[in-house]
Amino acid sequence: MKVLIVGSGGREHALAWKMKQSPQVSQVFVAPGNDGMRSVAELVSARTNEAILSFIQREKVDLTFVGQEAYLVDGLVDQIESAGFKAFGPTAAAAALEGSKAFSKDFMHRHQIPTARYEIFREEDKAFAYLESMNAPYVIKASGLAAGKGAVICQDLEEAQNTVRQMLSGQAFGESGRTLVIEEFMNGEEASFFVLTDGKDFVAFPSCQDHKRIGELDQGLNTGGMGAYSPAPIVTPEIEKIIIDRIVKPTISGMAAEGNPYKGVLYIGLMIDHGEAKVVEYNCRFGDPECQVLMLKLKSDLYGLAVAAAEGKLAQEIVEWHSESAVCVILASGGYPEQIEKGKIISGIELLPSDSKPERQSSQIFHSGTRLDGSVYRTDGGRVIGVASIGINLEKALQQAYQNIGKIYWEGMVYRRDIGSKGLMHCRDMRPEKSVGIVIGSKSDLEIARKATALLERFEVGYRFCITSAHRSPIRTREFINQSEAMGVEVFIAMAGMAAHLPGVVAAETTKPVIGVPIVSTLDGMDSLLAIAQMPPGVPVATMATNGAVNAAILSLQILSLRYTDLRAKLKLYKIEMEQQVVVSHKEAGLESI
Ligand code: AMP
Ligand code: GLY
Repeated sequence: MKVLIVGSGGREHALAWKMKQSPQVSQVFVAPGNDGMRSVAELVSARTNEAILSFIQREKVDLTFVGQEAYLVDGLVDQIESAGFKAFGPTAAAAALEGSKAFSKDFMHRHQIPTARYEIFREEDKAFAYLESMNAPYVIKASGLAAGKGAVICQDLEEAQNTVRQMLSGQAFGESGRTLVIEEFMNGEEASFFVLTDGKDFVAFPSCQDHKRIGELDQGLNTGGMGAYSPAPIVTPEIEKIIIDRIVKPTISGMAAEGNPYKGVLYIGLMIDHGEAKVVEYNCRFGDPECQVLMLKLKSDLYGLAVAAAEGKLAQEIVEWHSESAVCVILASGGYPEQIEKGKIISGIELLPSDSKPERQSSQIFHSGTRLDGSVYRTDGGRVIGVASIGINLEKALQQAYQNIGKIYWEGMVYRRDIGSKGLMHCRDMRPEKSVGIVIGSKSDLEIARKATALLERFEVGYRFCITSAHRSPIRTREFINQSEAMGVEVFIAMAGMAAHLPGVVAAETTKPVIGVPIVSTLDGMDSLLAIAQMPPGVPVATMATNGAVNAAILSLQILSLRYTDLRAKLKLYKIEMEQQVVVSHKEAGLESI
């Protein structure tokens, strides 16, 4: 069978890679594609609907899989089907779920599908009046397609009014912005949910999370997506059931009932908060880079599934998934998503697994925007390469992907180091309620101890706390340690001033790690520092600098993180945050950028 995939990014590379593995598929074409896909597909230069259709007719293509939204909204599937060929994707009328936010919001309203409260506007004065009735932040969206940039979140009213003015005048997004949606701001964590449907039945893909912002810790401008992973632990089985019952089923049945049965991949952008899921947006195709991870997860034959969906026979399909976690980290050009630098020589690609071998591998790279120049690849877009991996768990998959990234280089290459961290933070691996035991020698040490407890609270690590003395209440000290160990405490922090024997007493009683914090009370703290640092061999106390409560807390978190995945992720983000603070302070000092 001959398959044509329409589009040119990493999503289409992943689709071509997966199609190529089908025993039913003899040839894969991609229009227009990019050079990086040549190992699995033949590139076709057709870009317009007409050129694509005549290629299909000439080559007698058995199935056309349309990856990119603009073609769908523009009716490419309608044209292919009218010409008597098979196409996978929604018709233009069904693709309006993505192509017109005004249509999709009204559709959700008609079918009681949970989404943000909204109004649609074409006139400035009515939009301004509505804005005044709302509170910041204001969410303003161009109704039409805007390459993923059409949603603007404004922190104050003036900015919101300017955004409305620019959209309605056509200045911001041309015709796409002349109708706009203003909606309520939703709190929560985002996830992406995909279903493949034939208009009646559907297959749900494993849950997924994308990273839309360019900067680490979700800072900076929105992009097409800087990385993805699947499954996303935020989508618990309970939430998944809610998504299917309250969103997926009413969407598919609602579209059919309105005479626009939706066939193809439906991408539901979700906001999840306190066990509830609301629709942020619908898209009428796979997400990019979500598609890359979902293609690694899919065990079944993509061709068979797509044909079943195109023919309305999805109910007969049994779909299998790989149970492991999959990730994709995007490598982008310097300047993305604004002014991008193209044409840079990419080195290291040859060191990575190549997709020329169609059998499944645990690592893959998918080309989003590369160009072959003789025998070297050059960058040719904002997003350039997706480095994808599949592993026994999310952390292992991420390690593999980042290891591969270390082999690739071009001038100005950017990527986020925190892809998947949110997922890891949901991996709570059954931590005891209290993991750290803190003892202080006196009430006067409380203020310093609070610096440690505040950090533990921020990392959501439970602790036990006790004022006790090495010299005045040794039995109480021993009891606290014994009780704490019985409750699952894994690290002790002991803080004391003067002849600070408390950490030593704790270390004498436990086999858990003990962190000592000398507190300044006399002799500039030198007495307590020496008392703690000079433990006899065999009874170690990790000694912090005087008043080193923050580092004691961090070290205790680092010790715990050897066992707990979520803490490993949180510590990584903490480091990135410290780094960002340094950069901000450099900027605030008015120094030149380096
Ligand atoms: P959209 O183009 O509708 O997907 O919006 C792009 C991004 O803007 C989303 O992925 C969210 O991060 C954010 N966003 C959109 N609508 C809302 C909303 N009502 N509340 C909060 N964030 C939103
Ligand atoms: N990754 C988001 C999108 O494809 O729209």
